[in-house]
Amino acid sequence: MRLSSRKENLMIKLDVLNDIGSDIEILIVDSKALKKTPKALINTCNLQNFCAKHGEVIFIQDSKKLLVGIDNFSVDCIREIGAIIVKNIKKMNIISAKIKGFSDRDKNYALMLGILLGDYSFSTYKTSESKTSLRNIYILDDSKFKSELELANTIAISTNLAREIVNTPPEDCVPLDLANIALNLAKEHSIKCKIGDIKFLKKEKMNAFLAVSKASINEPRLIHLSYIPKTSNKRIVLVGKGLTYDTGGLSLKPSDYMTTMKADKSGGCAVLGIMKAISMLKPNFEVHGIVGASENMIGGNAYKPDDILYTREGVSVEVKNTDAEGRLVLADCLSYAQDLKPDYIIDLATLTGACVVALGEYTSGIMGYNEELKNKFEIAASISGELMAKLPFNKHLEKLLESKNADVSNISSSRYGGAITAGLFLGKFIRDEYKDKWLHIDIAGPAFVEKEWDVNPYGASGAGVRSVVNFILSLEG
Ligand code: BES
Ligand code: ZN
Ligand code: ZN
Repeated sequence: MRLSSRKENLMIKLDVLNDIGSDIEILIVDSKALKKTPKALINTCNLQNFCAKHGEVIFIQDSKKLLVGIDNFSVDCIREIGAIIVKNIKKMNIISAKIKGFSDRDKNYALMLGILLGDYSFSTYKTSESKTSLRNIYILDDSKFKSELELANTIAISTNLAREIVNTPPEDCVPLDLANIALNLAKEHSIKCKIGDIKFLKKEKMNAFLAVSKASINEPRLIHLSYIPKTSNKRIVLVGKGLTYDTGGLSLKPSDYMTTMKADKSGGCAVLGIMKAISMLKPNFEVHGIVGASENMIGGNAYKPDDILYTREGVSVEVKNTDAEGRLVLADCLSYAQDLKPDYIIDLATLTGACVVALGEYTSGIMGYNEELKNKFEIAASISGELMAKLPFNKHLEKLLESKNADVSNISSSRYGGAITAGLFLGKFIRDEYKDKWLHIDIAGPAFVEKEWDVNPYGASGAGVRSVVNFILSLEG
């Protein structure tokens, strides 16, 4: 497979310095700050109708200053403006730019992260890459913000790794490729990696996972990465849906809905990105990353609607729709994950189109049985700059999963509330003692971006990486 080395190296080098000469200087201004800038600048702005609207940009040739408008100086606005800045100056014929930092740590971090995340674009398959001359962006400040820069670099590298893998076309990223990426990641960062093949899945009785994978010529793999520090008092287990392609199976998707289904591995790729970040940040917690890597295809050997599967947990499932495959793979992976005796168990998945209908394409859904845990995660997500919202379980929706022939059906009998019924389906595989330790995050909305927004370029966003890393770091202390 072609995995660009860019994922490892951020293109633009960001540095924190006292001062330095550079080709241009960037000023972030709101309408109030604009009034306080030197007269000559204001005159040029007036001439060109620049009024510092959010994201509005003007370049003053004489003084080599780039003015960028901002709504207000909140971290969310600053992060977004960071991405807008880098996208704009990459088009200019310059090598370096400088920008005055903020006195506040969080604001500086937001600016750095916005710049680094906004710099990514998927160009691995372009035969003539549009080149930029830009090499360095300097944040002017004393070096007391070096640790923010380090964290921003780690988060950006990890998010971009997830983005790069998700963007890789399905023929070049089959389950075995995901397993190889995980093995390389483990080697590079000295963490453990175990790969389970079909024989292993059979031995583990992961029959739902196997059924989904049956029709593909590309064998499934269970990936298990572990970061185990010398001292640790908590164990976190992450589980990612890694469907390298989802055709829908025999309940075939219409072609308009099938395109972008290379992104159905986003949950699994987020787990890989998170494991990279964790192995660089080295917190005092044990973190495991499990990815169910599989391809949902059609063919003479395909699993069928009406099949009944015995899952690893022993629960029987009637297949009513082969396009509800992610929950089948996850059911067996969650079962495996609970054997590790986690203190927290979090799954990430592009699970339902219904979640996109419910929350819009910018927001992920947070589900689970523990209100306090969901609240805690929602706060961690919000601080990280990702949009996530809780979706509530209830017993009436749960009833809709009843099956006449098996313990549970893989789809709801109603067309409404599909994100929640999918979450409730997963809940059937969470043992009582882990119910309060589990979170399900449906990232179907933001995982793949059709039109760029915030710090996200077109294509994969790396959804989930920032929130989960932030959540894990927030457990410290
Ligand atoms: N991978 C899809 C969910 C999805 C849809 C992700 C759109 C990203 C964007 C999932 O496997 C699926 O097909 N779900 C079905 C469930 C239905 C059959 C109950 C869906 O959402 O339509
Ligand atoms: Zn599907
Ligand atoms: Zn799917």
